[in-house]
Amino acid sequence: MKKLFILPLILGCVSILHSQTLKAKIKIDIERTTGEIDSLLYGNFTEHLGRCIYGGIYDPASPQADAFGFRKDVLAASRELGVSILRWPGGNFVSGYRWQDGIGPLTTRPKRKELAWNSVEPNIVGTDEFLQYAERLGTQPYIPVNLGTGTLDDARNWVEYCNSDTGTYYANLRARNGRVKPYRVKYWGLGNEMDGFWQMGAKNADDYGKYALEAAKLMKWVDPEIKLTVCGLSYWSSGTADWNRTVLNYLKGYADYISLHFYFGDRTNNFLEYMASMKEPENEIKQTEAIINETIFKNNIDKPIYIAFDEYNVWYRTGVEEKMEEKYNLQDALAIATFLNTLIRNAQIVKMANIAQLVNVIAPMMITNDKLWKQTVYYPLQLFATNCFGSSVNSFVQTDTFNTEKYKGVPYLDVSSAYNAKNQTLVLNVVNRHPSKDIETNIENQYGIPDKRGTAYEINSPGLKDENSVNEQKVKTKEKLFAIAGKSFMYTFPAHSFTQLMIKIKQ
Ligand code: AHR
Repeated sequence: MKKLFILPLILGCVSILHSQTLKAKIKIDIERTTGEIDSLLYGNFTEHLGRCIYGGIYDPASPQADAFGFRKDVLAASRELGVSILRWPGGNFVSGYRWQDGIGPLTTRPKRKELAWNSVEPNIVGTDEFLQYAERLGTQPYIPVNLGTGTLDDARNWVEYCNSDTGTYYANLRARNGRVKPYRVKYWGLGNEMDGFWQMGAKNADDYGKYALEAAKLMKWVDPEIKLTVCGLSYWSSGTADWNRTVLNYLKGYADYISLHFYFGDRTNNFLEYMASMKEPENEIKQTEAIINETIFKNNIDKPIYIAFDEYNVWYRTGVEEKMEEKYNLQDALAIATFLNTLIRNAQIVKMANIAQLVNVIAPMMITNDKLWKQTVYYPLQLFATNCFGSSVNSFVQTDTFNTEKYKGVPYLDVSSAYNAKNQTLVLNVVNRHPSKDIETNIENQYGIPDKRGTAYEINSPGLKDENSVNEQKVKTKEKLFAIAGKSFMYTFPAHSFTQLMIKIKQ
């Protein structure tokens, strides 16, 4: 008799569980590639701001300091993060920076009033310290020059100081400062966010275009091997995409990249609205790609111009008062994974990206009481930078959608995929943006024979607002193996998670 009562109860539970799972389909054909993934997508940024440089990468007073005064734990965690390119010294900071203050004997370096962040710059970490740090880290340095308060001479002389063989004044000065061999810095920027009123020496598009063109000419005349990024329309500006068209028109012969900046966050305390807003960077990319193509075709330019997303991150909680020490949670990690998916889907045109910033200041790692710990956003970044290389693959995704006040028809699954022919591995990056439902997905591989087992990396946690701290890593990567039944198999992506599947495929 008892059993008769229990049965409907069990069936009821099963049907509730069932209704908590959605269904989806992903089809992948590794021959349908759309562009090569540039390793420079996994870059970072260190600005003279708050505790990023002083008290972040550099802290001679810490027991963590190496012989050069730089923190060994930050260096090690940056290596683990796979930082491929490191932008320095700003940001807004660069638009008032005199690079000449930061070279030579420490005792002769001036302390300067710093206007971007209303601080004092001690000029202890300068060009040589930064470039040698980048060498130890094994990353490409990327230097934006000062086109705010700086002169054309400042710009071209900085290139000479870093890149020329000895025999001329600035190259000899470098040698006198202890470095004979040129650093050969390949990546340079033509200023930072020059369209913004908050920028020292901000300009309108024509004034910037003319000035940046002259700087670009001189810099490339000093070293024709360098690659230059032109300032695109910055995220904060109320300007229009006409800025991008105008500046590219001036710089079309010199621009290797045009920059975009993007900062996002849960500004309305609404998870789905936040997830849906991650469509914006994709819109920016599409719009900028169209302007690049227009410039190239109209002017018969015979070299590519790419997008450098040289600042992006979650940033909405803190200001300068809090030294921008933003604490990240699970939903921020999902936003970063979605952003990285966006870069992979647009790998044909986005060839560089730099998360802002490396440590303490809106950063994937923090130092608390002299101890380094990893924020939630560290983990998706690390997964992409470790595994997601090769060609971007165009995947077909069929999944339920959701609507928010601002965005309609947003798919719950956000997907990117890549095939790396070198290790014959398919990488499938999937964010399940459903706040409570798992999504049971049929994955159909349309070309080649997959291995019988794959590796899954998952980032998840019970609460959307779960954070990490110096004492606890609640949100981090978990690894497991999964079975692959054949060309078509099922995988369940848990609610509010990021999953990276790695599958060997023999062609
Ligand atoms: O990354 C912080 C600041 O944000 C940068 O200095 C500036 O370029 C942007 O507005």
